[in-house]
Amino acid sequence: MARTMSLVGQRFVPVIVIDDPGLAPDLASALLRGGIGCAEITLRTEAGLRAIEAASDVHDFTVGAGTVLTAADVDRVVDAGARFVVSPGLADDVVERALELGVDVLPGVATATEVQRALRFGLDRLKLFPAGPLGGLDLIRALSGPFPGVRFLPSGGVTPENAPDYLASPTVFAVSGSWMATRELIAARDFDEIARLSRAATELVP
Ligand code: 3PG
Repeated sequence: MARTMSLVGQRFVPVIVIDDPGLAPDLASALLRGGIGCAEITLRTEAGLRAIEAASDVHDFTVGAGTVLTAADVDRVVDAGARFVVSPGLADDVVERALELGVDVLPGVATATEVQRALRFGLDRLKLFPAGPLGGLDLIRALSGPFPGVRFLPSGGVTPENAPDYLASPTVFAVSGSWMATRELIAARDFDEIARLSRAATELVP
């Protein structure tokens, strides 16, 4: 089974929407100061790809790519230095290309059918998206019955209030969310606040 080695030890995967790639190194440093060593920089903005490239140079920081929708996206983000790839859903071409390139891939799943499809690819670490609207921990517990070996990364609706419960679940390897480094905080260059919110997040780990 694939083990998503690039995320070993990480309990938070910030989801980043960034408009200026020049801010990516300072953003990565702020997350590191707060005790978070990785982020998923999304391709939702034009700046996303160059931000991945810029963050990939930051020592001790593991940069991944999010909102990866096609095999061509996988090629582009891996060229830019992404060490892991995250998708909102499970697209065969994305998973296949990531596996070909040997880069960690975390497809999004929302149903038992999608978990089964992911398992056929040898993937047992999966993003659950959108976790909150789908049922959160109740869904994770339900899925863990038939799939005891699967570990989840809930994303979408994770907050400082509910993160401790998610993190206490043995079937959750990390949580993902935007609250510690919002698009607005990054644009405002409020890196002290990003570091503070990151530190506060790490203190939520039970
Ligand atoms: C997203 O889709 O942006 C991620 O799942 C993060 O969601 P959040 O903004 O609810 O943390």
